[in-house]
Order: sequence, then structure tokens, then C-alpha cells
Amino acid sequence: MALYSEKVMQHFLNPQNVGIIEDADAVGEAGNAKCGDIMRMYLKIDDDVITDVKFETFGCASAIASSSMATELIKGKPVGEAAELTNKAVAEALDGLPAYKMHCSVLAEEAIRDALENYNKNKENKP
Ligand code: FES
Repeated sequence: MALYSEKVMQHFLNPQNVGIIEDADAVGEAGNAKCGDIMRMYLKIDDDVITDVKFETFGCASAIASSSMATELIKGKPVGEAAELTNKAVAEALDGLPAYKMHCSVLAEEAIRDALENYNKNKENKP
């Protein structure tokens, strides 16, 4: 059996939403101290709906595929719904990840959550 599903390969070889959003409404980051991989998520939010999302990932194939899939899953979604995205849902949408690669999908969950926390903090601080 192939190590990676076809979907993982597709999102790794042709990742969606790569890049940065200069005027992002929220930026979040997550890293894994063990492997040293880092993921950054940029969100554009309008009326509490994620209208655009881009990512930069310095990491392995699973991390890149997870970032790509996660951005596709939260694009166009209300922030409340995006905040509930789990790494399991990302991995399932990719038709699975090898068990020892599940931590790569955690980066996507954490980077999105970090961005949304920053978004909520900024919102509270606005007059
Ligand atoms: Fe580090 Fe995949 S090995 S995120």
C-alpha cells in the first residue's frame, strides 16, 4: 500500500492557497519543536466570515498537504465553525495520514486556532 493517499499527494504536489495576505485580518502560527516544521496562516475576515486564507508552511509533505486541505475546509466558513476544525477532520479529508504523520495535521488546527484567537483579541481591543 502506498504510504500516502492520492489526496495527500495531490495537495502536496499542487497545494491550494499558498502564499501570504499582506493586509490579513489575522495571522496565526504553529510549530513542532521536534521536527522544526512551522506553519503560518493568514486570514481575511469579513463580517465574521473567512473570505480568504493563505498559508506558508516550512515543513514536510504531510504538513503541506494538511495546510492546503485545511485552507480549503475553512474558506467561506464563519469564524466559529473554522475554530472547531480538528486535525482529525483535516486528516480524514485527506483520506488519512500515516499514524506517525498525524502530528503534521495538528499544525493546521493549531495555526488556524492561533489566527482566530488573535482575531478575537484584536476585535476586543478595537474601540
Ligand atoms: Fe514535522 Fe510533518 S514532520 S510537521
